[in-house]
Amino acid sequence: MPDSVTAARQRVAVVLAAGKGTRMRSRRPKVLHSVAGRPILEWILAAARASGCRRLVVVVGHGADEVRSKIRGDDIVWVSQAQQLGTGHALAQAEAAVPPGSTLLVLNGDVPLLTAPTLDRLMSAAAAGWGAMAVTELEDPGGLGRVLAGADGGLRKIVEAVDATPAQLREKLANAGLYALPAPQIFDYLRRLRTDNAKGEYYLTDALSAAAADGEAIALVRLSEPSEGLGINDRRELAQVHRLLLRRHLDALMVAGVTILDPERTVIEPGVEVGPDTVIHPDVTLAGSTRVGSDSIVGQGCRIRDSTLEDGVVVEPYSLLDGAAVAGGCSVGPFARLRPATVLGPGARIGNFVEVKKTRVGAGSKANHLTYLGDATIGDGANIGAGTITCNYDGEHKHRTEIGDGAFVGSDSILVAPVTVGRRATTAAGSVITNDVPDDALGVARQRQRTIPDWTVRCGKKKPASR
Ligand code: UD1
Ligand code: CA
Repeated sequence: MPDSVTAARQRVAVVLAAGKGTRMRSRRPKVLHSVAGRPILEWILAAARASGCRRLVVVVGHGADEVRSKIRGDDIVWVSQAQQLGTGHALAQAEAAVPPGSTLLVLNGDVPLLTAPTLDRLMSAAAAGWGAMAVTELEDPGGLGRVLAGADGGLRKIVEAVDATPAQLREKLANAGLYALPAPQIFDYLRRLRTDNAKGEYYLTDALSAAAADGEAIALVRLSEPSEGLGINDRRELAQVHRLLLRRHLDALMVAGVTILDPERTVIEPGVEVGPDTVIHPDVTLAGSTRVGSDSIVGQGCRIRDSTLEDGVVVEPYSLLDGAAVAGGCSVGPFARLRPATVLGPGARIGNFVEVKKTRVGAGSKANHLTYLGDATIGDGANIGAGTITCNYDGEHKHRTEIGDGAFVGSDSILVAPVTVGRRATTAAGSVITNDVPDDALGVARQRQRTIPDWTVRCGKKKPASR
């Protein structure tokens, strides 16, 4: 279609999101349920934005305040449908928010798999006639509206499944709930709707049937991928759509060079970036704003949220990272836990059963076993022995521990913060360090060993060994 045709009409999306979603059996409004890490409604708004809609009219009703507070955007115009009397009634509420002469993309609020190219196709098809709707051919369209085509291939009539005759139910062409419709004409049809149907509702679909009966050309746009029209009406469909949305992102990552060993057992939320030649093992979750560089390995069972991993990082199995920044060449885990504001410098190593929080670990430094590092700054090339604990909390306040470049913290050191271990300083194994240890010094804070000979014999446990 020539650009002049699209340019002449402003693209406005109207999202119908007021329904109760009764079959979700939830206190939360349906459109706020999360699929693949984002509320259902966000997906629809994102597709509308990607197809060039600058104005997003969202009709809300059930749980309206909650929806408004959770979904944000300067381009959103909220419209309320106080009583949910059907999809036709929902669209009618949007009339005042719609500039006359625009083509409306009317989108059901529960079909998050829709894509911008499909919306573009709908707009093009509508421009060539009166309107357009997306249809999908399914072996068994279940509860979806059945679409009856006319001789010219355009819409003749839509029949809701609950109102359909047995013969109509056998139709395989289903209404996907995505339309491109002209304003103000569609609103005239909505005013004429009646509720003499099985649900006793004002059906948007009846307005389209009426326009078709008047001879208006409504194109049927087939979805290239039938699953794109899947709506979420209960938790089983939520799970199905969730998996499909994730799979779409996993496929894109694989095409871009990421190895995902078992996509069925991997969750990578959309929005997460992963670089090429990185290998993701099964049962991994990468969530939120996470970015993983190239040539990295994420081992089995890791969960990483809102973290940045640069190139060449190895995360061994069963590690949990949340809000961490990991520089190139680091090794983490197995069974490590990096909590928010953990920063690892290049080549640092955090080993098994090590917890790190609000701590900067310098380049090449190591904490390989059984350690807690909280509110600490560790320089470059330091070694933190097994079982080291920073005592950062005195019951009221948190205090910092500073460990200098090249320091050697002996195994089982207890560092009572605030405290500093200087550059190249050493703490003796088993020490409780309460005073600063200057650069290059040794801090020992434990009793010297006493050795008592022939202890076993003196206790009467054993006869002296025969010499
Ligand atoms: C609707 C279509 C059906 C189509 C299917 C595709 C009608 C009458 N039927 O059925 O032909 O196959 O979508 O998924 O349109 N909503 C409101 N206010 C209301 C009622 C609904 O805002 O009063 C919103 C809902 O929040 C939902 C959307 O409209 O996001 C669709 O409503 P829903 O009840 O799920 O319609 P379906 O029965 O799925
Ligand atoms: Ca639905």
